[in-house]
Amino acid sequence: MNTVVIGLAALALVPQPEKLVEKTGKVPANTPIRYETVLGIPPEGYRLTVAEGGITVASSDAAGKFYAGKTLEQLRQKEGKNNFYPCVEIEDAPAYPWRGVHIDDCRHFFGKETVKKVLDLMAQHKLNRMHWHLTEDQGWRVDIPGYPELVKYGAVRSASPRHGTHPSKGSKECAADLDGTKYGPYYYTEADLKEIVAYAADRFITIVPEIELPGHVYAALSAYPEFACNPGNLKDRDPRLVWGIEKDVLCLGNDQAIKFMENVLDYICRIFPGEVVHIGGDECPQVRWKTCPKCQARVKEIGIKDETELQAWITRHFVKFLEARGKRVVGWDEYLLGDVPASAIGMSWRAGGGGAGHRFMTPEECVKNGHDMVMTPRTHCYLDYNQGLKEDPFQYIGGLVTLEKCYSLDPCAGIPAELRKHILGGQCNNWSEYTWNVYDLEWKMWPRTCALAEVFWLGDKKPDFADFKRRMAEHRRRLIAAKVNCAPLE
Ligand code: ACM
Ligand code: ZN
Repeated sequence: MNTVVIGLAALALVPQPEKLVEKTGKVPANTPIRYETVLGIPPEGYRLTVAEGGITVASSDAAGKFYAGKTLEQLRQKEGKNNFYPCVEIEDAPAYPWRGVHIDDCRHFFGKETVKKVLDLMAQHKLNRMHWHLTEDQGWRVDIPGYPELVKYGAVRSASPRHGTHPSKGSKECAADLDGTKYGPYYYTEADLKEIVAYAADRFITIVPEIELPGHVYAALSAYPEFACNPGNLKDRDPRLVWGIEKDVLCLGNDQAIKFMENVLDYICRIFPGEVVHIGGDECPQVRWKTCPKCQARVKEIGIKDETELQAWITRHFVKFLEARGKRVVGWDEYLLGDVPASAIGMSWRAGGGGAGHRFMTPEECVKNGHDMVMTPRTHCYLDYNQGLKEDPFQYIGGLVTLEKCYSLDPCAGIPAELRKHILGGQCNNWSEYTWNVYDLEWKMWPRTCALAEVFWLGDKKPDFADFKRRMAEHRRRLIAAKVNCAPLE
């Protein structure tokens, strides 16, 4: 980090540029900008000179030019009626190509305007992947041609857990802890999806759509019970009403169930132009498969030894299916267990264990098997975990992920130097069981997303937490002025 402060008060850029030299002087904000294409500047990187002679932006690509503009927005200051930029020299480029934010639109639905606001804020912080969790046990949020029941049944549930309760399915308290209020139908149409894709592209953000399989599919099964091992369990045609992990999953012995997922993913490939599609793969209980005659016939037919290999079989199937459509596949880390092609990307979330009893694979084990990884450990990146504020009116799923903890993430921790090229970056995850609306979502996202954005942008060049906190205190004022419900720093 090369920060020299000459004259003006220290700036509050978030993320901090890789190299920043503050100079004396300032120029009016309407000074024309000279743009140059300079080959050799890294992808998404830029050089920005604000000098009394003029403003120059150099980059090798359009994303770099865009990010120079985002830096200028944060540099802009007001003096009386006049806007100006302080003179600086900046040389900047990201440490990681995957700088993500995940939005769970299933447990609670946020809708187009909130998603657009998230995309705007992501762009301001040079975040470039929105992982959109669109299907779950508790809700299916995308209209798929040819499957009208998906939104008729899967996008509406008859009740949800009340604030402050944690009912579990089948428990005595369950009925009393449900709110009895219909939730939905809430879903995105094709026009909505295309609008969001275009809105994101204008901000150099790629949408990574997630269609969960073979677990976390109960809302789809409520629409098409015949795709479950035990269709009788789905006769009320209602998605799962409580949070937690559903045991009824996709029947992998049923060719029609697999064909259904192929049709869904084929459509998703056509709507989302990004390179990567997420197929979930986390927390898939195997209990139904163990007693399902069709699934057991499948295990015999393909000559595998157990249900973990059955999940690896379906993962291989969809990696091949999606790669044939020009996509790369990403999934939660459990889906890498077993014989899965090295081309599959993993999203490392479990940080030490968990995941419906599946053996834990360390990020090091995954990269040694040749997988690229996106680091999203729950210990640092789960923003539905408590943030440890002195006062906090919102409810969390549990855990503790403070601002300082977010900032302490090293995506390459434990990875041998020669394998670090497999670490694509990281992502903040916003699970929404206990997040009801935009105010709640923003409180949990900000400022922790700022800390992680800086980690993903600067990698091991990040300054210390005290430096971040100083800039963040100022930057928080910017967010509040932009009507973002940003939480305090402590
Ligand atoms: C996850 O949190 N189940 C990926
Ligand atoms: Zn089955």
